Amino acid sequence: MTKTLGLIGAGRIGGALARLALAAGLDVVVSNSRGPETLTDTVARWGEGARAATVADTAREADIVVATVPLGAHRRLPADALAGKTVLDTMNYYPERDGTVPELDSRELTSSELVQRHLQGARVVKACNNIDFLRLEILARPTGAADRSALPIAGDSHAAKEEAIRLLDALGYDTVDLGPLSESWRSEPNTAAYVQPYLPPRPTGLTADEDVMRWFLDCPGAPLPADRLTVLLRDAVRQSPADARERLG
Ligand SMILES: NC(=O)c1ccc[n+]([C@@H]2O[C@H](COP(=O)([O-])OP(=O)(O)OC[C@H]3O[C@@H](n4cnc5c(N)ncnc54)[C@H](OP(=O)(O)O)[C@@H]3O)[C@@H](O)[C@H]2O)c1
Repeated sequence: MTKTLGLIGAGRIGGALARLALAAGLDVVVSNSRGPETLTDTVARWGEGARAATVADTAREADIVVATVPLGAHRRLPADALAGKTVLDTMNYYPERDGTVPELDSRELTSSELVQRHLQGARVVKACNNIDFLRLEILARPTGAADRSALPIAGDSHAAKEEAIRLLDALGYDTVDLGPLSESWRSEPNTAAYVQPYLPPRPTGLTADEDVMRWFLDCPGAPLPADRLTVLLRDAVRQSPADARERLG
């Protein structure tokens, strides 16, 4: 049973998960790259049950740890302190932010396999990577709610996935198991299950970047039930991040 959720990364996804976890009655221990003293205001805002720590102490003190930093920083995650832990990996590969990773561009590995390779003694579960930080918070619902959404998970450890399923249930989500980490590409950027299905249709005629951003910030969520997510994941088409870049550029 998870009592304390550890968050390495206190940004948009870290903040959303912290608020959901606190609302579910969990304690939260959180860290960033600059030290716990820079998180004093953040944990005060989050309220009772939240505390800041170093990255290593976050890893040690938490029952489950969420690694929610830019993928380019994954090698700075403390493999020793995380050994033996279940680590939820929310990270996505954006080469323009994270730098080019040949094994990802060639589709030899998924980004979570790369993370697992670094965190050798941990049990990595890909989770919460295919929904934007606003909808992650807005769409959370109690178990059994008719408009509950589902999130994909993937991992090589059955026991770790069971832990992740229980945690996500407490936070407000059903889950769809994609299988091993090698299948986690099905929920990554440039797939049909990524971000868009949790949003309502974008109003026609909205073209200016500024208007699209305002709509994105203000719009509600569109609940995505497990059966619809399952179809999107099953029918996913794998692209090389490099190909996707070319088409976008
Ligand atoms: N934003 C979304 O809607 C979204 C959705 C799904 C998945 N994701 C993925 O989830 C991850 C986090 O995204 P985000 O939007 O929450 O990022 P973000 O807002 O930029 O926050 C990143 C956090 O990571 C911390 N950090 C960076 N390097 C670190 C290190 N070496 N050790 C400890 N903490 C470190 C930062 O702390 P400092 O400020 O101290 O550096 C910051 O608190 C990314 O991989 C992203 O692709 C994001």
